[in-house]
Amino acid sequence: MNAQRRPLIAGNWKMFHGGPGACDLAAQIAAGVEDLDHIDVVICPPFTALAAVAAELEGRKVQLGAQNLHPQASGAFTGEVSGPMLVECGARWVIVGHSERRHQYGEGDDLVAAKTKAALDVGLRPIICVGETLAERTGGQTLAVVQHQLEAVMPMLERSQGQAVVAYEPVWAIGTGHNATTAQAQEVHAMIRAQLRQLSSQLAERTRILYGGSVKPDNAAALLSCPDVDGALVGGASLDPHQFLAIARAAQPA
Ligand code: 13P
Repeated sequence: MNAQRRPLIAGNWKMFHGGPGACDLAAQIAAGVEDLDHIDVVICPPFTALAAVAAELEGRKVQLGAQNLHPQASGAFTGEVSGPMLVECGARWVIVGHSERRHQYGEGDDLVAAKTKAALDVGLRPIICVGETLAERTGGQTLAVVQHQLEAVMPMLERSQGQAVVAYEPVWAIGTGHNATTAQAQEVHAMIRAQLRQLSSQLAERTRILYGGSVKPDNAAALLSCPDVDGALVGGASLDPHQFLAIARAAQPA
């Protein structure tokens, strides 16, 4: 972490807790972060729980995010949810380009860029996910793959002036218990920041770059100690308030 950037811990609940249990989990997290300052905490429940969790978080420090959005504001798109709808529900953040969407739903760089633009258009802060597969890493393509994914959203990153966040999530580390080492994370994060520096050094210094992939209480402090790791995007451990809060505490500046 770097004192210039406020740490951000985001929980991606994926397809869990879409009903009444969501408010309970959100309330426990909100209570646990009351005494944490100088850190942003975001939770991203399923769409069906957004409005209820927004009400639960009223006046609390935890901010609300969604996991996906459609690039259009409205239209005949059965089953989809738009940026303006997320804002109406109380969301302030949205995850775009998660590898589960890139790989299971065929979302490519152009669609990720369109979704990022749609988010910014309505004032949602995008958490833009990038990351390589195991085959790409073993093939020595990690930096090239991440660079290419980032290239597609560079105009949006520039426009956001540090409001957007990048999350480096190596696909092989997601849900596997095999987190990246600090050296592996720092290498990619430094490369991402160098790419941002090509646009402007101010943008590079401001933009937060999260690490995601098997972040747990026992590895969070080490990962967060990397100079270019500004927080974490947490999957499994975000469903357990004790684990998620322990990770948030690890991000609290001394
Ligand atoms: P895990 O923390 O379960 O590995 O998931 C990471 C992730 O995909 C967050 O978006």
